[in-house]
Amino acid sequence: MKICMIGVGYVGLVSGACFADLGNTVYCVDKDKEKIDMLNKGKIPIYEPGLNEIVNKNYLSKRLKFTTDLATAIKSSDIIFICVGTPTSKKNKSANLQYVFKAANDIARHINKFKIIVTKSTVPISTGDKIEKIIFKKRKKRLFEVVSNPEFLREGEAIRDFRFPDRIVVGSNNKKVTRKLESLYDPLIKKGAVFFVTNRRGAEMIKYASNAFLATKISYINEIANLCEKTGVNIEDISIAMGLDKRIGSRFLRAGPAYGGSCFPKDTKAITVTGDLFKTDLSIIKSVIKSNTERKILLIKRIEKILSNNIKNKKIAILGVTFKPNTDDMRESSSLLIIPFLERKGAIVNYYDPSGKKKEFSKLSKVFFCKDIYETCKNSDLIIIHTEWDEFKTIDFKKLSKNRKFKIYDMRNLYSPKKMKKMGFSYYSVGR
Ligand code: UDX
Repeated sequence: MKICMIGVGYVGLVSGACFADLGNTVYCVDKDKEKIDMLNKGKIPIYEPGLNEIVNKNYLSKRLKFTTDLATAIKSSDIIFICVGTPTSKKNKSANLQYVFKAANDIARHINKFKIIVTKSTVPISTGDKIEKIIFKKRKKRLFEVVSNPEFLREGEAIRDFRFPDRIVVGSNNKKVTRKLESLYDPLIKKGAVFFVTNRRGAEMIKYASNAFLATKISYINEIANLCEKTGVNIEDISIAMGLDKRIGSRFLRAGPAYGGSCFPKDTKAITVTGDLFKTDLSIIKSVIKSNTERKILLIKRIEKILSNNIKNKKIAILGVTFKPNTDDMRESSSLLIIPFLERKGAIVNYYDPSGKKKEFSKLSKVFFCKDIYETCKNSDLIIIHTEWDEFKTIDFKKLSKNRKFKIYDMRNLYSPKKMKKMGFSYYSVGR
């Protein structure tokens, strides 16, 4: 099939490359010429394991094209995916839809024959209706069908998530169109993915409801972890035993720092705005947002307590600053609050992240990027493991600092408290 992806961000690029890998011809279009030039030179603008290989392979086989020429890409394609960003709006907490509506207007201008227009961007319930209205102003209804097909790609695992999805959700009442999408996804359905069809608003809702539920699950276990800390119970035992109940499931029950990233914080806020708009109080999701915000303060208080409220001139090492491993994404990472706080309190902060130095900390005069774990932790008073990158899972703590006694705050529960205690370390973790 011939496909056009509008927006070569995270979702557009990963999905476009993977669709090409399934044998389709894919035009990836973006107005950002610099980004397109970069991609045409074989450089990938985002950090995603495995993406480079797929992009290059399909680019060389000419199935994957990068262009700023939207008109040609639309005219040459049967299916057009809208993959532009929907950041949190500055005015309210809802999703900013200006890029989605611009894409709809652009599509309307260039439609020449029947097109399936698929919204992959995460958009509030009823956005599909608005996209349809925009295009209908310029084109006859028989020339297009607007469908919702949300993505469920996790950063750092996006290729795997694309190739082995649990389900593919399509929102449309048009049988011919859903059949066409079913055949596009056929290679994944054959491998076991469930192809689930509902109406357009239903598909839009599934995306938000899923992300809000996962955010709820994480906040829930994080609050239980708080209680574990006070009662001498090990949160790992709770997560494992709860997860063994098939009604609950074991995934997304890892206690840690507050959830971050480009989706959960944004999507939880956006769905509560939709709830308010339709006069439905989504009180559970509202309290999840509150709990997650408060969690960041709680982490800071715990650090203060570990250092006996004496942060000034302390050397603090932070291992990992991204919101999760295998990504360079800093959006809504709790490190964005923790590091400036420590600096303000007079600490000297060394940090290391396998995805590199972060511009977010470049203006902080006592915050330094180091090249590896050992340089970061040298002579530290406190080592904080903030992100669970694989290389932080097997640190030889004895090697880190011979002369100085340091404390360890493991926010991802990577080590056994028993073993750490046995080795003589002053070790703190989450909910244990
Ligand atoms: C998420 C969704 O999982 C994905 O389906 C989607 O559509 C986009 O948003 P992503 O933001 O890439 O993906 O990361 P995810 O792996 O879901 O983690 C989000 C946050 O939750 C991270 O900060 C992570 O550290 C945290 N988390 C996750 C936990 O604290 N505990 C867990 O058990 C799982």
